[in-house]
Amino acid sequence: MPADFDTIVNLAKNRGFVFQSSEIYGGLRSAYDYGPLGVALLRNVKEQWWRSMVRLRDDIVGIDSAVIQSPKVWEASGHLTSFSDPLVECTNCNARHRLDKLEDANQCPTCGTRDSFTEPKDFNLMFETHMGPVATRDNAVYLRPETAQGIFINFENVRRTARMKLPFGIAQIGKSFRNEITPGQFVFRTREFEQMEMEYFCRPEEAAKWLDYWLEERRTWYMDLGMSSDNLRLRAHDEAELAHYAAATYDVEYNFPWGWDELEGIANRTDFDLAAHADHSGKDLSYFDAESNERFYPHVIEPAAGATRTTFAFLLDAYSEEEVEGETRVVLKLDKRLAPNKVAVLPLSKKPDLMESTEAVAGPLRRKWDIEVDVTQSIGKRYRRQDEIGTPYCVTIDFDTLDDNQVTVRDRDTMAQDRIPIEGLVGYLEEKLDPHSSISRE
Ligand code: GAP
Repeated sequence: MPADFDTIVNLAKNRGFVFQSSEIYGGLRSAYDYGPLGVALLRNVKEQWWRSMVRLRDDIVGIDSAVIQSPKVWEASGHLTSFSDPLVECTNCNARHRLDKLEDANQCPTCGTRDSFTEPKDFNLMFETHMGPVATRDNAVYLRPETAQGIFINFENVRRTARMKLPFGIAQIGKSFRNEITPGQFVFRTREFEQMEMEYFCRPEEAAKWLDYWLEERRTWYMDLGMSSDNLRLRAHDEAELAHYAAATYDVEYNFPWGWDELEGIANRTDFDLAAHADHSGKDLSYFDAESNERFYPHVIEPAAGATRTTFAFLLDAYSEEEVEGETRVVLKLDKRLAPNKVAVLPLSKKPDLMESTEAVAGPLRRKWDIEVDVTQSIGKRYRRQDEIGTPYCVTIDFDTLDDNQVTVRDRDTMAQDRIPIEGLVGYLEEKLDPHSSISRE
């Protein structure tokens, strides 16, 4: 079982991972700010995704498209007409609810009144704004609700300039916005969030093969980064659940404190998007295969993950409590690649000679990794804090350091301590922290 929901939310707030947005003004529901540790964790998650999807592969390249695109993009993609949820409004308390999420379709969960709902109305989830100084119907634009369309509209630009041949992929990480009716569960469902999406273009007859391939690759990615396989599963969408563009979709689900829920969707989008954009733009987005002398629209397999949601799942999965000498030790057993800080440097005292050694030790480490120098409180309390934020190694500088030029390195998971000469410290930590540079595909 993953950690208790409130425990993680409290840890995230108290240790500086995630804060409520606009907190000093009472908070803006469903938006969050990432604090010093949260931004580092989120960046590490995105970095690992980019590394496995783009950097280690020849067949996938990256882009970064605009958040605001031509409204015609959303017309072609179907988002203007189909990206909606059925909403009912309670005539007693005016609360709005998603009809498909109600436990009892005849009772308002806010005020308890029965048979008080209006007829369901479709509510478009895209945020609308206006381009230019005057707000008229004609200059309405939308904040993108997914990063995927920025990829489809650049298909030909990327294919031509990067000289890509099928099968190939285009990856993107970025913010997306949805006016969710039921945001909640902390950063699980928010109105502003980050996605990590990749569109993999292939020959139509190979789509099923590539779907299987990406299901396996993506499940493995989470496990390789330490997520427990017991908390992960793949679930196929049934016919009724399929999005308007998909021939088949699987969700990678995580066992959240409230039950199994979506981490990532992996869909066979067929040629829906390329054909739709070709049709609406009048531009030829077909692919010419010189070997078979054929022209066709590639089909697309899309692994679409949430960066912010995944970060939350890694936090939940890493949380552990242990009994150590009659006390509870809280440890975030984050994979070392994800840990916000890799090393904490802890001088036993603030005396000038120890601080001088501290800087001599911290300087070279800082050039390689995210580190923290902590000079507050007792050493025991500092270890506990570093365990709680998942720092893999603590380097303690004590009075013996001044004589023997050695430091003590403590391992977060085993609590074992090694005495290491300062001149060998970077090499020692490199072996511990970066063995993963040889994982997966290398
Ligand atoms: N391009 C396909 C697409 O956007 P999706 O299943 O709607 O598919 C993909 O979104 C992923 O984006 C989800 O699996 C989830 O991780 C993340 N996501 C979607 N809506 C979100 C929200 N409101 N808050 C946080 N993450 C969200």
